Amino acid sequence: MKPHILQLNPILVPSINARLDERYTMHRLYEQADPDAYLAVHGAAMRGVITGGHTGISRSVMERLPALEVVAVNGVGTDAVDLAYARERGLPVTGTFGALTEDVADMALGLLLATCRQLASVDRFVRGGLWPKFPQPGAIPLARRVSGMRVGIVGLGRVGRAVAERLGAFGCPVRYTDLKAIPGVPWAFEADLVQLARDSDALIVCAAADQARDLIDMPVLEALGPRGFLVNVARGRLVKEADLVKALQERRIAGAGLDVFADEPHVPPALLDMDHVVLQAHRASATEETRAAMGEMVLDSLAQALAGERPAHSLTT
Ligand code: 8YV
Repeated sequence: MKPHILQLNPILVPSINARLDERYTMHRLYEQADPDAYLAVHGAAMRGVITGGHTGISRSVMERLPALEVVAVNGVGTDAVDLAYARERGLPVTGTFGALTEDVADMALGLLLATCRQLASVDRFVRGGLWPKFPQPGAIPLARRVSGMRVGIVGLGRVGRAVAERLGAFGCPVRYTDLKAIPGVPWAFEADLVQLARDSDALIVCAAADQARDLIDMPVLEALGPRGFLVNVARGRLVKEADLVKALQERRIAGAGLDVFADEPHVPPALLDMDHVVLQAHRASATEETRAAMGEMVLDSLAQALAGERPAHSLTT
C-alpha cells in the first residue's frame, strides 16, 4: 500500500505532482471544502506532510496526525512550523535549503532596481497613455542610482550572502547585521541595526523569522532616512508594517520594494496607491527552475524519512 501524504499547499510543477501521485496516496487539503472534517476522517493515516514555508504547520494540526513521520517544507522558512513540538515528537522537519538562494537574491536586486529606478510607476505612466500627454522630461521625477549605493543587509545567511555578492558587481559597498559577526566574509559587520540603517542608502531584509519580529521599526526607518530605500524578501513580520506605511506616507524613507507582508495575501491598502513602492506577491522563489529543484528536495526528504533514514535536510532531528 502506498503511504498517505497530506499536502497543505499546491506544488506548481506537474512532473513533481506526477511523481508524488505515483509514489504516494496524496491528500490535498487545499482542495477540500471542509478541511477539518477531512482531517477527522483521514488524519490518522498520514505518514508525511508537505507544506509551504509561509503556511507551515501548527501543533494542533500535527496533533491530529498520530502516524506522522516527517514534515517536508517546500521552502526554507520554518518560522510557521511548531518546531518545538516537532522536536518533542522526534519528527524531522525538512526544508529546501540552498535550492532557492539565487532566485531570492535575484528578486532582492530586482526590487532594489525597480524601486530606485521607478520601473513600476513609469511602466504605469507609459501604459496609461500619459507620455504623449506629458512629454516634457520633468513630468517624471529623476530616479536614484543603484550602482555604488551603500547597502545594509539584515541577515547574512545563504540569501544575504548571495545578495551581497550580486551587489559587488554593482560596485556597492555592503555592510551587514546578524546575531553575530560571521567569520571569513568580506563584508563589514555592524551589530547595531539602527547604525547600519544610518550608514546605508538601502536596507535589504534577508533574515530568518524564527526568533524575530518587528525588527524594522520606526527608529530603524528614521535612521535609514528620507533618501533611503527598504527591500524585504524575507518575512513580512520582520517589519513593523504600520511603521513602514507611516514612514512611506510621510516620506521619512524614499521608497520600498516588498515581496512579503505580515498578513498575506493582504497588503496594507495605503501601499497600493504609492508610486514609491514596488509590490510583489511573495514570488521570490517562484521560477520554474527553482520550484522544480525544491520539489525534488521534497521528494527526497519524504523518501528518506519514510525509509527510516534521517532526511539530509532536516532541521530538527
Ligand atoms: C515560498 C518561502 O514561497 O521558502 C520560503 O520560506 O517563503 C517561499 O520560498 C514558499 O515556501 C512556497 O511554498
